[in-house]
Amino acid sequence: MKSKKSSEVTILAIETSCDETAASILRGKYPSAKPEFEIISSVVNSQINIHKKTGGVIPETAARAHVKNIVPVIKETLRKGHLSLEEIDYFAVTSGPGLIVSLVIGVEFTKALALATNKKIIPTNHMAGHLYSAFASDPTKTKFPVISLIVSGGHTMLMLLKSYKDFQVIGSTLDDAAGEAFDKVARLLNLPYPGGPAISKLAEQGNPDFVFPRPMLNQKNFDFSFSGLKTSVRNFKADNPKVKRADIARAFEDAVVDTLVTKTLRAVAKYNAKTVSLAGGVAANKKLRSELSASCKKEKINFLMPSFELCTDNAQMIAIAGYMRLLQNFKPVSFNKVKADPSWELE
Ligand code: KG4
Ligand code: ZN
Repeated sequence: MKSKKSSEVTILAIETSCDETAASILRGKYPSAKPEFEIISSVVNSQINIHKKTGGVIPETAARAHVKNIVPVIKETLRKGHLSLEEIDYFAVTSGPGLIVSLVIGVEFTKALALATNKKIIPTNHMAGHLYSAFASDPTKTKFPVISLIVSGGHTMLMLLKSYKDFQVIGSTLDDAAGEAFDKVARLLNLPYPGGPAISKLAEQGNPDFVFPRPMLNQKNFDFSFSGLKTSVRNFKADNPKVKRADIARAFEDAVVDTLVTKTLRAVAKYNAKTVSLAGGVAANKKLRSELSASCKKEKINFLMPSFELCTDNAQMIAIAGYMRLLQNFKPVSFNKVKADPSWELE
């Protein structure tokens, strides 16, 4: 690994907002007018196999796993980066939003690290992490304005970015998030947790002769609602017990993807966007990736999406969001100024 220059900063990021214990090290130019960085190491310990047994995330189970995994994950991240704690300049930690019992493990652990090493912390927003994951390969090339669609297990939102500093949420879900809808419909179809990948795989074999409603497409706003779609699936399944699960999975996935793509493209038209970016766990959905990409191509606008490993929760995106916060003149804070905030919304 290249040795550090004096105009660089090394950030160790820690993420425990839901059911992944993750850490990552970023080295970036600092101070700098433009983001220029490399990810030196990244480790994700997923609890999927634990939560599969219960069909979803039980917060206390997740918290216990974070407690068990956090030290090994951080040690492994430092080992892979050939760095010691002394060589880290700042810690970035996901302080919210997320499950409070999961968040506090990462936050309190980071505070202890900061206290012990006399270093400062960059509290980082989990959704800012998802947002920046789409720009990870080269944030300097992004053409603004950007419409960003962020779809995860806890959030569904459309954002308008005039620059990395100037952004606003223009639409969000009124009830279930897109990923939550995938997880709940998967349970209705007796598919394992997490539901997104399971539905997507089954949907490949589906060829339905029916459609589910596209929620809120007839409304002019940029909000979403997926709870009614889940109810439609439940009722349809009860009324048509002989219909193949693969057909239901396909019709459901089509309805979600169509709704997300249509509303995103409407936002592009309204705000004259030059780029669309996609992020969050549901961004790993192949159909959503290909349909959004094809629509953007048709409209001749840029389309950015994260690699598969950067879609679901990880700490690389937290390291990038922390670094971006630093470039935007945020002053890292002492351990006693940091607190987990489960409902910290991006605004
Ligand atoms: O971003 P993420 O890892 O965690 C949150 O911040 O919520 O997102 C997890 C969500 C889960 O609901 C999962 O079912 C969904 O992302 N997901 C997918 C796919 N892979 C993960 N949804 C649809 N298709 C996929 N391939
Ligand atoms: Zn997430």
